[in-house]
Amino acid sequence: MTKSYSLRDLIRADNFIDGQWVPAASGKRFPVTDPATGKVITEVADSGPDDARAATDAAARAFPGWRDTLPKDRATVLRRWYALILEHTDSLARLISLEQGKPLAEGRGEVMYGASYVAWFADEATRIYGDVIPQQQRGKRMTAIKEPVGIVAAITPWNFPLAMIARKIAPALAAGCTVVGKPAEDTPLTALALVLLAHEAGVPAGVLNLISASRDNAVGSVKAWLDDGRVRKITFTGSTPVGKYLAQESAGTLKKLSLELGGNAPFIVFEDADLEAAVTGLMAAKFRNGGQTCVSPNRVYVQAPVYEKFADLLATRVAALKVAPATDPNALIGPMINARAVEKIESHVKDAIDHGARVLTGGKRLPELGKNYYAPTVLADATPNMRLSCEETFGPVVPLFRFDDEAQATHAANDTPFGLATYFYSQDLRRIERIARLLEAGLVGINEGVLSSEAAPFGGVKESGYGREGSKYGLDDYLSIKYLCQGNLE
Ligand code: SIN
Repeated sequence: MTKSYSLRDLIRADNFIDGQWVPAASGKRFPVTDPATGKVITEVADSGPDDARAATDAAARAFPGWRDTLPKDRATVLRRWYALILEHTDSLARLISLEQGKPLAEGRGEVMYGASYVAWFADEATRIYGDVIPQQQRGKRMTAIKEPVGIVAAITPWNFPLAMIARKIAPALAAGCTVVGKPAEDTPLTALALVLLAHEAGVPAGVLNLISASRDNAVGSVKAWLDDGRVRKITFTGSTPVGKYLAQESAGTLKKLSLELGGNAPFIVFEDADLEAAVTGLMAAKFRNGGQTCVSPNRVYVQAPVYEKFADLLATRVAALKVAPATDPNALIGPMINARAVEKIESHVKDAIDHGARVLTGGKRLPELGKNYYAPTVLADATPNMRLSCEETFGPVVPLFRFDDEAQATHAANDTPFGLATYFYSQDLRRIERIARLLEAGLVGINEGVLSSEAAPFGGVKESGYGREGSKYGLDDYLSIKYLCQGNLE
C-alpha cells in the first residue's frame, strides 16, 4: 500500500541522497519564491561539491545492484512511479504552478506529459536488444550487447520542472543507470517531490539522488560531477553557453553527453497556408508556458500577400489571452519566471521598436498584476537587425517578419546557429516536401504547432545540441555497446 501525499507533504527542503533526506553539508539554505507574488515558499538545501560527491558515492554503491536487476523488474518500479505521479496529479500541478508560475491547467498538462515518459521508458526497459552478428569466420560467434553507461548526472531547467527531469531519469533508470541530479535553482521543489514518489515506488536507496543549489553554488556542485570519472554521462537541458561549458569541462573524463539547448525557432506561413489553422498552431506553439519553451517560435515569417491578414487575425487572438496568476482558473498566461526574464523581454521589445517595429498588441509590462508579468505581444515589421531575430526572447512576444519567396524564407529560417524546432504552414504538397528537407532542425512541425510527444525523438542540431529524448532512440544515450567475440567454437 503506497502513501498518498498532500501538496504540503510533497514539499521537501532537503537533498535526497542514498535514500535519506539530508541537509547540505554546509547547513546553508536558499529561498524558493513564487514568481506570481515574490513570496518565499520554503528554503531548500544550498549544496556544494561535498554534497555532489556524497550523491555520487551513493550512486556508485548502488550501481552494480541496479544494473543487474532484470529489465522487467525495473519496468515494474517505473510503472509504479508512473501510477504514483498520476495519483498525485493535482498536488504536483499545484506545486509546478506555485514555483514556476504556469497556469494550473498547464501544470496538469505537464504532469501528464512528464508521466508519459515514465510509462514509455517502463516499456522500453524490456526492449533493450543487442545483435547476433552474421558469422564472419568459422568457430567464432560475434555479438553486440547493450549495457548501462553508469552514473548519469541530470541537470534540468526551470521551464518544465517535472517533465524535463522525468524524461531524463526514466530512461536512465530503465537502462540500469544510477542517477545524480540537480534541478534549476528557481524550481527545485517539483523535482524533489518527484524523487519522493520514485522512492515510494520502490527505487532503491542510492539509485536516484537529487541535490539543490543556489545560482552561486550551482557551478561548484556540477563541477564536482564533471571532474569525477565515476560519472559517465551528463544529460542537460538549458542554454547553449551552459551546454558548451559542460562539454568543455567534461572533456577531461570524456563523458557521454546529451545536450538539449537553446532554439530560435522560425515559423513560416506561406501564402497558400490555411491562415486560421496557422494562427491556431502558432498560438499553441508560442504561448505554451508563456513563451518560455525551447521550441516556442521566436521568429514568424509571413509571405507578403497574406502578411496583413495574418497579422490582424493573430493580434485579435493574442489580445484576448487572459494574463493572471496560476490560481485564477481562467489564466492562460502566468508570470514570467523572474525579474531577469522580464527585463530581457522588455529590452528585446524596446530594441525592436527602436528599429522600426510596430506594436499590434501588448508591448508592455503589467504592473497591476505584479512585477513579473508581461503582456502577450505582437510586433509587425520585424527585421533581421533586431535582437529578437537572433536571440531567444523566451517570453510572450511574436515578431512578424515579411518575405517574398521560398528561398528567402528558408535562408532566413536557417540563418541562425541554432536548430531545435521549426514550423511551416502550406497546403502545397510539393512545397511541403521541399521545405521540410531544407530546414536545418531536429524537429519540424508541418501544419502543426504541437510537436512534443514521448513517442517522438526530441532534440536539436547545430548549437541546439545533440542526443535525443523520448521515442525508441531515447534509451541509446544511456547505453553503451559491448562487442563479445567468442572463439574456438569448432
Ligand atoms: C523545452 O522547452 O526544453 C522542452 C519543451 C518540450 O518538451 O516540448
